[in-house]
Amino acid sequence: MIVSSKLSEVEIDKGIFKQVLDLDGFFMVDENVLKNFPELSKKNLFVVISGEESKSLENYKSALEALDKSGKKTIIAVGGGVTGDLAGFVASTYKRGVELFQVPTTLLAMIDSSLGGKNGINLGSKKNYVGTIYQPKKIIVDPNFLKTLSKKEISNGLAEAIKYFSVFGEPSFFELFNFDINNSQNVISNCCKIKLAIVEEDERDIGIRHTLNFGHTVGHALERVYNLSHGEAISIGMIKELVLAKKLNLVTEEKINQIKKLLEKNSLPTEFPPNFNLKNCLDMMELDKKGSLVFSFDKKNFNVKLTRDFLEENLK
Ligand SMILES: NC(=O)c1ccc[n+]([C@@H]2O[C@H](COP(=O)([O-])OP(=O)(O)OC[C@H]3O[C@@H](n4cnc5c(N)ncnc54)[C@H](O)[C@@H]3O)[C@@H](O)[C@H]2O)c1
Repeated sequence: MIVSSKLSEVEIDKGIFKQVLDLDGFFMVDENVLKNFPELSKKNLFVVISGEESKSLENYKSALEALDKSGKKTIIAVGGGVTGDLAGFVASTYKRGVELFQVPTTLLAMIDSSLGGKNGINLGSKKNYVGTIYQPKKIIVDPNFLKTLSKKEISNGLAEAIKYFSVFGEPSFFELFNFDINNSQNVISNCCKIKLAIVEEDERDIGIRHTLNFGHTVGHALERVYNLSHGEAISIGMIKELVLAKKLNLVTEEKINQIKKLLEKNSLPTEFPPNFNLKNCLDMMELDKKGSLVFSFDKKNFNVKLTRDFLEENLK
């Protein structure tokens, strides 16, 4: 199955990963993917150690040097968002840009991070501070990779899928109520269609692409202050932001309940953690958003500035 836009093409098929093995290039592969799929042990291989720390300046330099030594001019990124972000940045900067194939292996990467061209590394604790927007030649999605992924990582991806449903809802998304990793192609392709269409309209992220930040203003703050995964944080973030949207008459109670049920069905939290501290969270949000508290609620309202007073009153 192929999903495409003017900027990119995604091919989704079980077993398609075999084609990847025939590509001639520099393979950047996540360490856990390599353990589960040892056939990826290619000659020109750069192993990306699991974890956010791999998106460092030092690791970027090591990857560039290994790529240069290999003499290859095509990069094949096989892994989750960490591998994809690092490989994308290497591909876009080495010799001012070389060919890139994204082969996402987490649900989050299949439906979100491998699409849209954003890449980057961290500058110390500042996430994704250095990066570019550079479209891969192709995104190759093999849902069979999901079979070795932990339940927690599946939930992380599902939170993003539910985000698409919440903002752009289509009936076919009801499959999310009974998500089955052995039968996930519909959900993946629906999400890819949405993301590609949004990116085609606003590749540089100056307008409608902000809709993809729904749940993330509150979510990012929670992720940084509490020990929550990205999926857990944006799950809570979405519900809390929907409550704010309700105060502004942008959403119905019925819709909030529908999204809440969907998140809970997929083992995602919807309430603040017990040790939640509103002041800490608001401070973090102001820091993250450079002082202005901006929210994206839906296709029409994706740049809504709210005051700290309003949030203190309503974010409970
Ligand atoms: N570029 C973008 O548009 C974009 C969007 C969202 C997130 N991101 C970035 O993506 C990153 C998070 O990505 P992620 O959630 O995919 O995490 P990840 O890449 O860290 O992978 C999560 C874990 O799963 C393991 N793993 C990956 N594939 C596996 C498989 N098939 N089987 C078993 N284990 C596997 C990895 O080793 C890792 O431990 C963050 O750095 C975030 O900033 C980027």
